[in-house]
Amino acid sequence: MTNSPDSPGAPAAAATAAPPASDIRPVNGHNGLLSERWDLLAADWISWARAPGHDSYWRFHRDAFFKLVPSPGQLTVDIGCGEGRVTRDLRDAGHRVFGLDLSPAMCLATLTHEEPSLVVTADARRLPLPARIADCAIAFMALQDIDDMAVAVREAARVLVLGGSFVMAIIHPMYSGGGFDENRTVDAPFMASKSYFHVGHCSRTDTQDNRTITFHREHRPLRDYTDALTGAGFVIEKLNEPTDPDPQKPSHRIPMFLDILATLRSPETARR
Ligand SMILES: C[S@@+](CC[C@H](N)C(=O)[O-])C[C@H]1O[C@@H](n2cnc3c(N)ncnc32)[C@H](O)[C@@H]1O
Repeated sequence: MTNSPDSPGAPAAAATAAPPASDIRPVNGHNGLLSERWDLLAADWISWARAPGHDSYWRFHRDAFFKLVPSPGQLTVDIGCGEGRVTRDLRDAGHRVFGLDLSPAMCLATLTHEEPSLVVTADARRLPLPARIADCAIAFMALQDIDDMAVAVREAARVLVLGGSFVMAIIHPMYSGGGFDENRTVDAPFMASKSYFHVGHCSRTDTQDNRTITFHREHRPLRDYTDALTGAGFVIEKLNEPTDPDPQKPSHRIPMFLDILATLRSPETARR
């Protein structure tokens, strides 16, 4: 793997090293807890994510998300790649992809899939990549599961060339800030019992077609994400709010996901 050339006029000082592990601080009293839970959840997730047509990825989210992904360039990094479904789809779309995930069980699943992908076990907060090596970084449904999300966004900026794209999808902060009442009828009220502005871990158990999984995430208000992006030198180009297209689902009325395409303009702003 070789370094891609910097964009014209890019300051040499922008080619910084990954932060030392000691710079990664606990957030809200947790450190790495979300990723540890993901490693334990791997079997449930692999079954959930790979069942044909089961997850929202197959039903509508993949198509919506890939509309934001730029044409293949030199190198695309898939941050928090899980069992590798997005990595495989990126590769099928012509991208040269490098996937990484902190969960060894997820990485093993990516490697042992019948269409194996290049993947390493690594922390999004400390990418094992030199600065300015990629022109696209993807974080599909990963940032809400990563402690120190802003550190991970800065790392994405570090490994991107100026003008490079960061394409991310998260659970919509409005969706993670509340929930439908238990009967989940089409007109079920959507309720928020906690403050939308409170940052904290939350769990949600989903059951669908005899499969159950408990997601452990960090709810953060939308501004935490936009601050992380602009603070790392990104400009937001496009923002979509995909949701379930089935009008019989209560989630049809609420944005389930938030997808963002951002371009790296000036990594120096992160150091102001
Ligand atoms: C919801 S899964 C999404 C996986 C994949 N992007 C997909 O959509 O199929 C979130 C992933 O983020 C990973 N993750 C959590 N914290 C991480 C970290 N600090 N560094 C890298 N990956 C992390 C988890 O292990 C998990 O595989």
